[in-house]
Amino acid sequence: MKLLIINGPNLNLLGKREPEVYGSTTFQDYFEQLQSKFPKVELEYYQSNIEGELIGKIQEVGFSYDGIVLNAAAYTHTSVGIGDAVKAVETPVIEVHISNTHKREDFRHVSYISSGARGVILGFGLQSYDLAIQSFL
Ligand code: DQA
Repeated sequence: MKLLIINGPNLNLLGKREPEVYGSTTFQDYFEQLQSKFPKVELEYYQSNIEGELIGKIQEVGFSYDGIVLNAAAYTHTSVGIGDAVKAVETPVIEVHISNTHKREDFRHVSYISSGARGVILGFGLQSYDLAIQSFL
């Protein structure tokens, strides 16, 4: 089972960025916990702040990997291009968010990803990624 976690813009700052919303753990530390928890899963991680790079990565793995766990971050609410990429590939995509975007500003209530995703997990903190991985097992 080969899965890729893709994080979008500003998620490289997890641990430092608005800790009251996103927690104080870095994604690198959390990713290591996930690797230990799911030793049988070939788990990879990719992060970019650039929309086109995120689209490129979805296209690159989207015909060979078993699953993509995607937190497109702010692009969730703006990017037709990432939404189209999710629909274009064969690999199922689970959309995740750390925060409950529906409890936040109105512009965060719209997602261009959800209609192409297999499912959506949000609001469970970093555990949202863990739950998304479990959904593939
Ligand atoms: C986020 C929610 C988005 O609205 C925000 O722009 C992010 C992170 C989350 O994981 O809660 O950067 O995707």
